Amino acid sequence: MDKKGPVKGADMSELTVWQNAAIGIKGDTVVWLGSTEEATILEANQVMDAKGRLVTPGLVEPHTHLVFGGSREKEMALKQQGVPYLEILKQGGGILSTVKATQETPFEDLLEKALFHLDRMASYGITTVEAKSGYGLDRETELKQLKVAKEANEKHPIDIVSTFLGAHAIPAHFKDNPEAFLQEMSDLLDEIKQENLAEFVDIFTETGVFTVPQSRRYLMKAKEKGFGLKIHADEIDPLGGTELAVELGAISGDHLAVTSDEGIQRLANSNTIGVILPGTSFYLGKDDYARAREMIDAGAAIAISTDFNPGSSVTENLQLIMSIAALKLKLSPEEIWHAVTVNAAYAIGRGKVAGSIAVGRKADIVVWDAPNYLYIPYHYGVNHTNTVIKNGKVIYERQGIR
Ligand code: NIG
Ligand code: FE
Repeated sequence: MDKKGPVKGADMSELTVWQNAAIGIKGDTVVWLGSTEEATILEANQVMDAKGRLVTPGLVEPHTHLVFGGSREKEMALKQQGVPYLEILKQGGGILSTVKATQETPFEDLLEKALFHLDRMASYGITTVEAKSGYGLDRETELKQLKVAKEANEKHPIDIVSTFLGAHAIPAHFKDNPEAFLQEMSDLLDEIKQENLAEFVDIFTETGVFTVPQSRRYLMKAKEKGFGLKIHADEIDPLGGTELAVELGAISGDHLAVTSDEGIQRLANSNTIGVILPGTSFYLGKDDYARAREMIDAGAAIAISTDFNPGSSVTENLQLIMSIAALKLKLSPEEIWHAVTVNAAYAIGRGKVAGSIAVGRKADIVVWDAPNYLYIPYHYGVNHTNTVIKNGKVIYERQGIR
């Protein structure tokens, strides 16, 4: 992953692979790269032999709803009966039921839960993660979620990048007045900025949630206040959220499951990264998978992500998503590796610090129980990590059965 990112179009299929490589780490930083033979002349306090295993940059997870209360396993039966995702939401379930649970869960419990999910993400090889709020929908709970993410970032070795998603759904008492609700959420922006609680602002642009004009007005305010922009765009209905992301210069447009031909073209001609969440299409039982193949062929930069959340994609396993990206999006292994490292890092403003192994960068590295990089998407649904290194320290090691 040594290309200047974000890596676009055909460049996504060119991957630099070193055979018999060695990495020198001092403190938390990569200080040397070369061959194993050259490495023998170096003096090292500690040597780790990867024994011919695949070694890659730590995975970057660019889209999660990390902090939430409760869980929604009871909705699975509704989904099996064919009740659509947006219908469950309309009836006060879905996102709104997690909102209630998140409002009722104390700070410390939310923190403990977030740290638990971060541990699991780390075990899957993720070393940097984006985390959204959006299960508060009121001042107090949105700030609580963002503060949980901030404290989790301090307590956990994984680096967290925060996004304010106050505009995630319309609470019942604002049902007939979404504009007033958006005003309430924009009123939080100054405080969030001052307390450094989020770098990005996101909105769910969707039928029954927020329209394109509402999203545009809301995001323009956020942009004026210095936030980077993201959009939950064209997930279920093709409203034109992808085009809006490009128009506003958003760092990413996310989902893009039903993006129009025009949207694909605009994305390809822009600096906005398409963050594709195929686990969500899979989990919601949809036939609409993002046309990521066409997006890359048109020249776009693509990242992929779990969308980890309690409703539409309940998994921390980014490796599984790599397999779904191969099987359902028809991406090549080379494209998939770019999509979970360098491009994912650029999609959350960490392109210069995460997503590649290079001298001078933080040593975020995964040693895999795999002979080569083709192997991870191929052998699906399990965890292939052998050792995960974050900032030069081993944070996870696979244990054998005792
Ligand atoms: O990315 N689409 C909106 N938000 C999330 C799902 C949130 C939920 O169902 O709790 C998503 O799919
Ligand atoms: Fe999401």
